[in-house]
Amino acid sequence: MKPKYRMGTFPTLFAALSLTFAGFAAAAGDEPITPIKAPTGIHQGKAELGKKLYFDPRLSKSGFISCNSCHNLSLGGTDNLPTAIGDRWQQGPINSPTVLNSSLNLAQFWDGRAADLKAQAGGPIANPKEMGFTHELAVNVLATIPGYVSEFRHVFGKDKIDMDQVTEAIAEFEKTLVTPNSRFDHWLRGDEKILTADEKAGYALFKKSGCVACHNGEAVGGNSFQKMGLVEPYKTSNPAEGRSAVTGQDAERFSFKVPTLRNVELTYPYFHDGAAHTLTEAVNLMGRLQLGKKFSTKENAQIVAFLKTLTGDQPSFALPILPPSTDKTPRPVPFD
Ligand code: HEC
Ligand code: HEC
Repeated sequence: MKPKYRMGTFPTLFAALSLTFAGFAAAAGDEPITPIKAPTGIHQGKAELGKKLYFDPRLSKSGFISCNSCHNLSLGGTDNLPTAIGDRWQQGPINSPTVLNSSLNLAQFWDGRAADLKAQAGGPIANPKEMGFTHELAVNVLATIPGYVSEFRHVFGKDKIDMDQVTEAIAEFEKTLVTPNSRFDHWLRGDEKILTADEKAGYALFKKSGCVACHNGEAVGGNSFQKMGLVEPYKTSNPAEGRSAVTGQDAERFSFKVPTLRNVELTYPYFHDGAAHTLTEAVNLMGRLQLGKKFSTKENAQIVAFLKTLTGDQPSFALPILPPSTDKTPRPVPFD
């Protein structure tokens, strides 16, 4: 049955709403960036299980590499390396993006080849250059650990652990990895004094120069694919071709998912090839390659100062203690 409103409640409701909007408009105006909202509707059981799996190196062939090895939650959800190090110290092909706020992305990976976090989470376990395992072996390992068997049964209500449950739990944990309450978000919500004059000037430049055309919304990016080197071609030895590898459309060659700029102070080095080590360098290149603009040293520093206001509350929780292996658990193979 549809809810019915008493006529009398309408004017009050309307007045309350327009008051809220007026308050919001006064505080945030029509800003192209919106504050990060805390996640809602999280399934606690799945998220807690997913947290364990996220930190568990036994999902890798070597027994040494976990999701947290490359998406280190003590380092802004990245490894701070140009490209990742995988199984047997193999050089990864591309920079590890942060997992922070990844639930806000329109799709996952630089080229968007995974539709969502659940679709993404199975990838690294079986990727020979990442965790180097197979889904079957990973599930076998979990099935020999009684602590996991009972927790999976409790959370999913099924007798057998499968990969679908593993990826669902990891994805649920990842949804909790959002970073609200950055200084910039406080400013958006009306705390005028929280930003310095330089930080505000940096934000004004970020808008006026056109950065917001691609970096906007809640994540300040993550919501479109755009060409890298729009005005001037980007020179790199990295062979990644971007979105065209997924769509087959030649026009999308060298289009990448616009990275989130939330917590960008923590997620160096920058770009899909990890070639820019500092924000100064990244801002300089973005200005030139995407907008045909050369910023003065002062302007660059102001934009960088603004970008550093986007660091929010980092995920904080007790490190999960993982259930021990048993005599039946297949042994890790770190060397061969
Ligand atoms: C060996 C390093 C490594 C490990 C281990 C690893 N990742 Fe990644 N991760 C990467 C790299 C590199 C990419 C980017 C790959 C690409 O775009 O082609 C990535 C991409 C992602 C993304 C997409 C983010 C975005 O903005 O597109 C998510 C989410 C993610 N990983 C989660 C995980 C989870 C969950 C695990 C554990 C099951 C994991 N990763 C294990 C290196 C790693
Ligand atoms: C036409 C769209 C577009 C515009 C305009 C744009 N960017 Fe970007 N930005 C991107 C894309 C795409 C990437 C990823 C490129 C890559 O890795 O190859 C990126 C990457 C970045 C990064 C690195 C983030 C990371 O984690 O690797 C920073 C910092 C950045 N942009 C800042 C800016 C600033 C500052 C401006 C304005 C001067 C700007 N961008 C303008 C599309 C854009």
